[in-house]
Amino acid sequence: MDYISIRVSTLRGDQKISFDVYVKINEKMVLYIRKGDSFEGLRLKRLKEKKLKKMFIEPDNESFYRDYMQKNIELAYDNKSGKDIQTRSEIIQGEQQSKTEEVFENPELVESYLSAKDSSGRYVQFLLSNNDAVKSIMAIENTDKSMSHHGVTVATLSVALAHKLSGLDPKQTQLLALGAMMHDFGHYDSAIYPKKNRAEMSPAEIDIYKSHAAIGAKKVQDKKHFDQVVLRIINEHEECADGSGYPLGLFEKKIDPLSMIVGTCNTLDRMMTFDGFSKEDAAKKMMVEHMGKYPLGHIQKATEILNSF
Ligand SMILES: [Fe+2]
Ligand SMILES: [Fe+2]
Repeated sequence: MDYISIRVSTLRGDQKISFDVYVKINEKMVLYIRKGDSFEGLRLKRLKEKKLKKMFIEPDNESFYRDYMQKNIELAYDNKSGKDIQTRSEIIQGEQQSKTEEVFENPELVESYLSAKDSSGRYVQFLLSNNDAVKSIMAIENTDKSMSHHGVTVATLSVALAHKLSGLDPKQTQLLALGAMMHDFGHYDSAIYPKKNRAEMSPAEIDIYKSHAAIGAKKVQDKKHFDQVVLRIINEHEECADGSGYPLGLFEKKIDPLSMIVGTCNTLDRMMTFDGFSKEDAAKKMMVEHMGKYPLGHIQKATEILNSF
């Protein structure tokens, strides 16, 4: 039997699944999650702790799986569905993560990119039209230190920051979210990061680590369907206002404003997700150690966002 692979990030929410889910162990399919289970709150936490990206279903169940996904997404985005915001956020966060992974795996597929772009527009709407959306998305812990989850977190903070700074139109905000989701494309499938923390890397490994922005940009620069600003965010998100960033050491004037927003939020989530700091400590470190690296208004407003939940 040819099993069909599914993304774990699409299994979310309180809707019961109508199919069995398998994992592959030593080339054998092992029944892992039974029909009738659901994935919200604690159960989601446990599922994420298993650190699996993909699982499998029987080919006969593909249409059940598609129906499940579609129903999940529709209910989650419906502001009047009556579902609680945490469950909705878990489903929507998973959807964004899976769209990002699809592009990371197949950047040449126009369809995957356009679908991710479309859904990031919807995501921005969700974040801006529900009071506790940012808070509930941020409550989902990135226990498996996934690059796509990190991308969604940075996108969430970036949209919240842009909203506070104001001045971006809906189209730009959509591209900001999309670029933020994709910003660490160069780390995806990295042999070094995040397996090793930056503090544990040798100088040669640091050089490889630091090449991720340029590597990510190189992977997409020949893909005509990528928006130019998304490419710029991938290339520039490690640049700093004072010229101390990389790959080019640009100063603020030369850095795209959207890259500057993503850079600020990326630094915050990197401290929380990969360096193990609490949000309070990350906010403090931002004020003390990153002063001058990002515009003062960005630092102040981004830390306000963290302190608001
Ligand atoms: Fe990065
Ligand atoms: Fe990052």
